[in-house]
Amino acid sequence: MIIRPYRKGDFAAIMNLWTATGLGRPERGDDETTVERSIEIGGEMLVMCDESDSDRIIGTSWTTFDGRRLHLHHFGIDPLHQGKGLAKDLLRKALKFVKEKRCQVKLEVHRSNRAAINLYKGAGFEYLGDYDIYIIRDIQNIEV
Ligand SMILES: CC(C)(COP(=O)(O)OP(=O)(O)OC[C@H]1O[C@@H](n2cnc3c(N)ncnc32)[C@H](O)[C@@H]1OP(=O)(O)O)[C@@H](O)C(=O)NCCC(=O)NCCS
Repeated sequence: MIIRPYRKGDFAAIMNLWTATGLGRPERGDDETTVERSIEIGGEMLVMCDESDSDRIIGTSWTTFDGRRLHLHHFGIDPLHQGKGLAKDLLRKALKFVKEKRCQVKLEVHRSNRAAINLYKGAGFEYLGDYDIYIIRDIQNIEV
């Protein structure tokens, strides 16, 4: 497998992977423009592919930068290739970027997702405590 940076034209294959892994729900509002903007402003999208077919994406790791911290999300491996150590390889590469950026990195993971929690803890992530997560999805309804 190879791990390479996102390139123009990848998005359709990425969305297929996100659908297969449950990472790409429409309400999250992620699209090609968002991915490319996040890279322009200092983030990184890594994709994992088969060496024989670098257009077929079997893993993604998306690290965004808000000017202060890095956030790791949309981390997933194609179900057909899970359990082979590929997530460990991809996460190692993502954390290389974190180290180079010299910023702290956060992530959100559902408390029932044991595979992901074990993966992240094994890579050095520590549970931050009993925080809940809030979001405004429907910005049309913000009263100003
Ligand atoms: C989480 C995920 C990325 C793991 O990918 P993977 O390629 O199967 O993982 P690896 O084979 O590299 O395993 C790495 C570590 O993850 C953990 N892990 C992986 N599968 C596991 C399972 N079924 N049960 C418990 N721990 C598991 C283990 O700690 C494992 O290390 P070990 O083999 O030394 O014990 C994959 O299950 C996935 O894509 N899930 C759907 C998307 C998702 O939930 N992403 C996380 C969003 S926060």
